[in-house]
Amino acid sequence: MPADKRTIGVCNGGGDCPGLNAVIRAVVRSAIIVHGWTVIGVKNGFNGLIWPEQSEELTTASVRGILAQGGTILGTTNRGNPFNYPVVENGQTVFKDFSGRCMDNMSRLGIDAMVVIGGDGTLHIANEFAELGMNVVGVPKTIDNDLAATEVTFGFDTALHVATEAIDRLHTTAESHHRVMILEVMGREAGWIALHSGLAGEADVILIPEIPFTIETVCEAIQRHEAAGRLFSLIVVAEGAKLPPHDARGNPFPTALQGQVANAIGWGVREYLGKDVRVTVLGHVQRGGSPSPFDRILATRFGVHAVDLVAKRQYGRMVCLCAGRIESVTLAHAIGVPKLVDPACDHIHAARSLGVSFGDRP
Ligand code: F6P
Repeated sequence: MPADKRTIGVCNGGGDCPGLNAVIRAVVRSAIIVHGWTVIGVKNGFNGLIWPEQSEELTTASVRGILAQGGTILGTTNRGNPFNYPVVENGQTVFKDFSGRCMDNMSRLGIDAMVVIGGDGTLHIANEFAELGMNVVGVPKTIDNDLAATEVTFGFDTALHVATEAIDRLHTTAESHHRVMILEVMGREAGWIALHSGLAGEADVILIPEIPFTIETVCEAIQRHEAAGRLFSLIVVAEGAKLPPHDARGNPFPTALQGQVANAIGWGVREYLGKDVRVTVLGHVQRGGSPSPFDRILATRFGVHAVDLVAKRQYGRMVCLCAGRIESVTLAHAIGVPKLVDPACDHIHAARSLGVSFGDRP
């Protein structure tokens, strides 16, 4: 048994993401196999530190068979910020700071370092804990791929496969009925899933938060395709794409359609072109199910590297992918800067060169 017998904790926060279980498995197995440590699974975000009875030891047996499983065996929440935790008291929601309690319970559980897997919000919390003195290492996760400090996050590739398959399926039905099909994919801040799936699935129009568009220009693209003999169109839109203030006739969109970007665009196109339009909102299908081989491998490399950092006591850092290698950056450097699609990037140049419209007039 190695001399440095330690206990580490692992938790994940925010929305789930294909590959979370692969990270957890990698953390548990490498901590036990390489170092002989004990690993505590902290359940439901940081809740397992607020209520330590929710936490439990993870062994190689607990993580057997989870590599290919979607979701997370730890459970998760995106309403569990321990620094500002919502609690109902006398019928009112009040916000409490449970951070000190988390620090105390971490000691009580004998945990001397935490591996925290999360997107920007969770990593922000991890950084706040680091400032309080918690030994913490972060692992980036989000299907949106919008974390600046890493080339790619695990979960993105799986979501991309799901979105691309959806476009492929919409293609055949759109073509048969000569319809306009609109697919809304996830991506609140950034259009990575829409851009990549739109390119891979041969979309005619791709609408992303980074490029302002008008309904008129979208309709013109559809008309151009029709004039060239293609009687159907496929539009992929990121959920965070910003609706223009007016439809193609200059009328404001009905307020009911705000926040439902694909439905609003569908309404606008139908009104202006009188075309048969159908809308699909892909939603959480993109987050569920088994991770792709790429995501399983990236997540595994991240998990092992996070344990390596703990072994070297390099805390306050987040693992990341940099030029194909697993590296790390400080948590402070990793948070708060969303990685947006650069409208001048070569993916967009390639798409435009093939006649794809982004709903703008470049
Ligand atoms: O950040 C990941 C993400 O899937 C976004 O793409 C999406 O807007 C959001 O989470 C959905 O969150 P929820 O599961 O809380 O509806």
